[in-house]
Amino acid sequence: MRGTGQRGRSDGTNRAEKGVPEVIFIHPDGRREAVPAEDGQSIMQAATNAGVDGVIGECGGSLSCATCHVFVDEAWASRAPPRSDLEEDMLDAAAVEPTRFSRLSCQIKFAPDIDGIVVRIPTMQR
Ligand code: FES
Repeated sequence: MRGTGQRGRSDGTNRAEKGVPEVIFIHPDGRREAVPAEDGQSIMQAATNAGVDGVIGECGGSLSCATCHVFVDEAWASRAPPRSDLEEDMLDAAAVEPTRFSRLSCQIKFAPDIDGIVVRIPTMQR
């Protein structure tokens, strides 16, 4: 059953009732924005397609800009795929100091197992 083991989700939504795969962005002011996402699409692509402020994706996902930096919500951190060495290096160029929850959202491919993932947008990207 979908939604089991989801305690700690900060979006407060019931995914099973909604049925639309999505990513939840939390803006620096606390505003929550849910956007649709498709399998295989990056979280950065989902954000830019929906016009989410604060996720720029300047390089188009080629791992050379760090303007897609997000902080994965702690409750979801272990479910996102691990960072590559290149992503680790590029995170050093992020405008806001990275934390252990930092990811370049172009490197997180959306899939059903992360439907409803919550990511926080930093205060600046460049
Ligand atoms: S879009 Fe440039 S590093 Fe992610």
